[in-house]
Amino acid sequence: MKKLLIIGAGGHGRVIADIALKMNTWQEIAFLDDDETIISSLEFDVIGKSSKALRLIGEYDIFIAIGNNEIRKKVHNQLSIAGATIPTLIHPSAVIGVQVEIGEGTVVMAGAVINCGCRIGKNCIVNTGATVDHDGIIRDYVHISPGAHIAGTVSIGECAWIGVGAVVSNNVEITAGTIIGAGAVVVKDIREAGTYVGVLARRVK
Ligand SMILES: CC(C)(COP(=O)(O)OP(=O)(O)OC[C@H]1O[C@@H](n2cnc3c(N)ncnc32)[C@H](O)[C@@H]1OP(=O)(O)O)[C@@H](O)C(=O)NCCC(=O)NCCS
Repeated sequence: MKKLLIIGAGGHGRVIADIALKMNTWQEIAFLDDDETIISSLEFDVIGKSSKALRLIGEYDIFIAIGNNEIRKKVHNQLSIAGATIPTLIHPSAVIGVQVEIGEGTVVMAGAVINCGCRIGKNCIVNTGATVDHDGIIRDYVHISPGAHIAGTVSIGECAWIGVGAVVSNNVEITAGTIIGAGAVVVKDIREAGTYVGVLARRVK
């Protein structure tokens, strides 16, 4: 059994550690965090700042528990180039259909459902209770927040963030970098990146 290093000891990092514990794959778990006042998180030690990760890639699998999509992408690229082993975390209660591909560094949290034929990219977050229905294409570094529902054959571009409880109707395409607000309902393609909120979703930024 290997050891797991989690970058980011905040709330998201604690959920990641909890999932890792339940997967029973790593003999030891530790955190890195740039906030020196955090010395432990959940029941695990914070053993240094995030810059220490590169020195530990031979000793640990490394998971990036950073919510911000762009920062997660940057850290992922650095670690990937350096040859780090970046695992995929799937909570035992998540339901994953057949012919689903899930990229490295992605987490699928408790109660999430990913139906058949989906492709989920690298370092995505499919958060608690979110669903992605059949044949969805979720590009790298996307965050689908808790309880968001993505209907069938939806395509979501790199680094997009779908807010908590949002709904995306079937066959819709959402361009890279888009932010969909909490509770929004998206029924048409979004071709220009920006922040979209409301029912039906309209651009506010
Ligand atoms: C969409 C969002 C990112 C916008 O945040 P922001 O860029 O700071 O924007 P603001 O708060 O300045 O809001 C801009 C306008 O949109 C409105 N607005 C913001 N979020 C909204 C939402 N979810 N639904 C409806 N209106 C919303 C604001 O009231 C404001 O309207 P006003 O200009 O008339 O006052 C944020 O409100 C949101 O919904 N975040 C999702 C949070 C989430 O899912 N968290 C899960 C973490 S796991």
